[in-house]
Amino acid sequence: MNAGIIGISKYIPPKRVSNADYEKVFETSDEWIRTRTGIENRHIAETEETSDLAYNAAKQAIENAGITPQQIGMILVATVTQDQNFPSVACQIQERLGITGCAAMDISAACSGFIYATTIAKQFIESNSYDYILVVGVEKLSKIVDWTDRNTAVLFGDGASAAVIGKVSEGRGILSFELGADGTGGKHLYLNSQNHIFMNGREVFKFAVRQMGESAVNVLEKAGLTKDDCDYLVPHQANIRIMEAARERLGLPEEKMSKTIHKYGNTSAASIGISIVDDLQEGKIKDDDIVVLVGFGGGLTWGALAIKWGK
Ligand code: UT7
Repeated sequence: MNAGIIGISKYIPPKRVSNADYEKVFETSDEWIRTRTGIENRHIAETEETSDLAYNAAKQAIENAGITPQQIGMILVATVTQDQNFPSVACQIQERLGITGCAAMDISAACSGFIYATTIAKQFIESNSYDYILVVGVEKLSKIVDWTDRNTAVLFGDGASAAVIGKVSEGRGILSFELGADGTGGKHLYLNSQNHIFMNGREVFKFAVRQMGESAVNVLEKAGLTKDDCDYLVPHQANIRIMEAARERLGLPEEKMSKTIHKYGNTSAASIGISIVDDLQEGKIKDDDIVVLVGFGGGLTWGALAIKWGK
């Protein structure tokens, strides 16, 4: 039996910041941000820390899965914006969930983190090591954004998504995965000595356009499928133009691709899970759909999953 997503939830901090709000701060325009990135709004955590965002999403995901926190065998939190280097966010939310004993650790793979963590969870579920694993993708990027740099500041938002990974019925679940990294690209996207995001946007853009399409096709092939079998694509929400390139590579119509970037901006490790939650609510993802999740990010890293949706 395959591992699959048996519960999922998101948490978005309440404060919304629009492109118009940034027009007051930077030499920028709503028109530039919308047409170059697809972003219209993003949410910023004012008082909440990364662990608060993670806890709120995790609690609801556990409820959504219909299990109790005590049944969780492992907690994996994908983030690059921990409250502190240690204890991990995974250990912090374990305490808040009122459980002790289960394994807990953070995973550092930037925007690919949700795919990395879910793939790790899959291995432990399918080897019968654990029944349920809590995966969280969470970022408070507002604390590492350089608020004097219009090139990066307008792109990012804060948020969390959480999923419970467990066994699903025969034929459903995670059919295949791809994970990868190219450390030589680390220089294009990193946390600089001022603790701010540095990004060579054009280089990351070129890499992402190539890698997202390639990984999406690869996971379908690994699952014994072709692009014609793909019902829905959930790409990391970094830039609408990058997402469109991946969609076109799969030959999917517009309505078959998840698009939440206009609401939340780039929330890094949280973005794919957040998108899935909204898509499920809007009935865009249905049981037995073949869904491809694909992400890329700092590292440089990438990852993709092909899932036959449903418990
Ligand atoms: O999650 C993974 C991490 N990041 C990404 O996926 C981002 C990947 N890269 C991108 O999404 C795009 O490269 C950006 C959105 C960051 C930039 O778009 P672009 O089309 O590659 O623009 P550019 O960097 O080539 O810059 C075009 C112009 C520049 O002006 P000059 O040098 O041509 O005069 C920038 O200074 O746009 C200017 N610019 C802005 N103008 C208004 C950059 N940021 C802004 C801004 N408002 N916020």
